[in-house]
Amino acid sequence: MTNLSILSGKTYFIRTFGCQMNLHDSERVGGLLDSLGCLQASGPEDADIVIFMTCCVREAADTRLYGQCSSCKSLPKSPSGHRVVAVGGCIAQRDGEGLLTNLDNVDVIFGTHSIAHVGELLADAFIDGSRHVRVEEIDTGSATDMPWHRETAYHAWVPIMTGCNNFCSYCIVPYVRGREKSRPMDEVVDEVTGLVRQGVRSVTLLGQNVNSYGRDQGSAPRFAELLRRVGDTGIERIYFTSSHPKDLLPETIDAMAEVPAVMPQLHLAVQSGSSRILKLMNRKYTREQYLDLVHRVRDRIPHIALTTDIIVGFPGETDEDFEQTVTLVDEARFAQAFTFIYSKREGTPAAKIVDPTPRSVIQKRFDRLVKHVERTAFEYNQHALDTTVPMLIEGTSKKNDRVLQGKSPWNQTVHCPVPDGVDPRELVGKVLDVHIDVARTWYLSGLSTSEPR
Ligand code: SAM
Ligand code: SF4
Ligand code: F3S
Repeated sequence: MTNLSILSGKTYFIRTFGCQMNLHDSERVGGLLDSLGCLQASGPEDADIVIFMTCCVREAADTRLYGQCSSCKSLPKSPSGHRVVAVGGCIAQRDGEGLLTNLDNVDVIFGTHSIAHVGELLADAFIDGSRHVRVEEIDTGSATDMPWHRETAYHAWVPIMTGCNNFCSYCIVPYVRGREKSRPMDEVVDEVTGLVRQGVRSVTLLGQNVNSYGRDQGSAPRFAELLRRVGDTGIERIYFTSSHPKDLLPETIDAMAEVPAVMPQLHLAVQSGSSRILKLMNRKYTREQYLDLVHRVRDRIPHIALTTDIIVGFPGETDEDFEQTVTLVDEARFAQAFTFIYSKREGTPAAKIVDPTPRSVIQKRFDRLVKHVERTAFEYNQHALDTTVPMLIEGTSKKNDRVLQGKSPWNQTVHCPVPDGVDPRELVGKVLDVHIDVARTWYLSGLSTSEPR
C-alpha cells in the first residue's frame, strides 16, 4: 500500500488540452490532490508535480505534448527539490508505456480510465524515483466519485456519461475513452442538487453524445427525463454538450422548450453538409435529415443559438461536397461553428482512405468556410440588439479590466462597463441585466440596467 502522505504539502500544476471531458478530468485530479494535502501552484516552475492532460483528436494537439514535456527540463528546481512530471488524458490512454521512450523526463503515465489512481502513481514516483504507468481498461474506482477542484464557483461541468459508441470514421475518441457508460440518474441529480446548495448557478452536462444517455443501462435513451429532473433542482442555467443529430429525440426538444432552466442553446455537430461525405464519416444522417432537425428545433425554440462542429477536407471531399457544407451553414444560420481541417488519426477507418486533394485546396475551402461562419454568427447576434439580456458574470475582459465579461442565456459573450466604485471580483457569479447596443460577430455589449443579483 503506497504511503500517500508523501504528497502532503507538495505543489501541483495541471495543464489541460482538448475537450471539456479532459477539463473535468483535470478538476477531478486537482480535487484528489487537494484531498491529499497538495497545494495548487500558479505555474509549472512553482510545482513539484506537473501534469499534462492530453488530447489526440487532431495531430496538432498530439505534437504539442512533446514540446511541453521537454520544456519542463529547463525549469528551475521545484520547491521540494524533486519534480515529478505526469502525462494523463487521451494520448496517455492511447500510447501508454510507449510514451516513456520518447518522453525521457516523464515519471508517471495514467490513462483516462485510471485517474482515480493518480495519487498512488505520483506517490510511488516520489518514493522510489522510478517511472509508473497505469492505463488498463477496467477501473476499480469511479472517477465520478472523486473529490473535485472547480475553477469557478458559479459554474460546474457535470459528466453524465463517459465514452462513445458511434465510431465516426475519422475519430479517435471511442478508442481512447471506451464505450458509453451512463451515470445513474439519481447520482447526477443529487450532484446538481448539491451544487445548487453550494451556490452554483449554471451547469453543463457532459457526454460525447448526451442524447443516448441511459441507453447502455438497458432502456431507451432517458436524456429528456434527465433534463426535466435536473431542471427541478433549482439550478438556474442548464447547458449540455455534445448532441449527436441521429439521436436527438422529439421528447428532448420538448424538454428543452419546456424546462425553463434549459438554456436556448444547442451544440449539434454536423461535420459536413454533403450526404455522401456524411455516409463516409459514418454519421448516420443525411444533409436533409439534419436540416429538418434544425427546423424542428427552431419551431419549438425560435431564437435558439445553434452551434456546430465542421470538418473540412475529409478524404475524398470534392468541391461539390464542400459547396454543400457552405450552403448548409447558410441555411442552418449557426451562431457559432468550430471548424477543423481533417487530421488523419492512425487506427481509424478514414486513415485508410487515400486522398489526392492538395493541402492548399483544403486550406482555401477552410478559409472560405470561416468567412461564412463569421457572417452567420454576426447575423445571429443582431437579434440581441436593443434587447435586455441577463449576463452571468464570469470576470473582466482580457483587454480591459474595467469591462465585465459574462454569458447571455444563449451563451453569447457579453461586455458591460464595471459599475463605478465596484470591485469586479465581487461580481463574479452574479447576474446583471444588460441593454445591448452593440452586436459584433463574437460578442455583445451594452450598459447594465439592474443591480447585480
Ligand atoms: N462527440 C462530439 C460530437 O460528435 O459532436 C465530438 C467530440 S470531438 C472531441 C470534437 C470535434 O472534433 C468533432 O465534432 C469533430 O468535428 C472534430 N474531430 C474529431 N476527429 C477529427 C479529426 N480526425 N480531424 C479533424 N477534426 C476532428
Ligand atoms: Fe467522435 Fe463521433 Fe463519438 Fe463524437 S460521436 S466522439 S465525433 S466518434
Ligand atoms: Fe481530445 Fe480526448 Fe477530448 S482526444 S477532444 S481530450 S476525449
